[in-house]
Amino acid sequence: MNENIILIGFMGCGKTTIGKKLAASLNYSFLDTDECIEQKEKQSIKELFKERGETYFRACETKVLETLNEETNRTVISTGGGMAVQKQNVELLRALGVVIYLSVTSETVMKRLRKDESRPLLQGENGAKRIKELLESRLLAYKTCCHYQIVTDGKDISTICLEIQDIMTRKCDEKKGICKLSEK
Ligand code: S3P
Repeated sequence: MNENIILIGFMGCGKTTIGKKLAASLNYSFLDTDECIEQKEKQSIKELFKERGETYFRACETKVLETLNEETNRTVISTGGGMAVQKQNVELLRALGVVIYLSVTSETVMKRLRKDESRPLLQGENGAKRIKELLESRLLAYKTCCHYQIVTDGKDISTICLEIQDIMTRKCDEKKGICKLSEK
């Protein structure tokens, strides 16, 4: 298995912010799958949804993962909130490295993304209800896909990064036969 850390979880759970800080602390590279798609397609995610539709975007997500599988090492990879929901992506993600699910409640998401206009799936009326329903519909997929889960509500970025680093250290020790760390 390559030495990558893959962050999955709902919109607003902090994948990108945490990923960048974590990568800097570990001296890893950082990569955001949404950014890769935007660069390749030369369009923002918002425009891509509008002009090509969600199905096209989901196909782009899988294509990005397929490229990463061949090339990537010592990288923190932040994914879009729907990445782990597509069944065909699950094995690709898990083959890339250690998958960490950053969980968040719908209340926290609502607070963080109330004014956000960049996420097509959260636009329009009834934002709170939409977030709650979408999050609930994805919980099982996130839990199934991840190797480890970290609850992020009420924690600052540094604490979450330390928790992830702790998991990685204990995993290394486990490899050397020093301690046993059970997943999830
Ligand atoms: C999506 C989440 C977004 C982005 C797109 C779709 C989703 O990424 O990929 O708008 O389906 O949850 P973030 O989770 O980084 O906001």
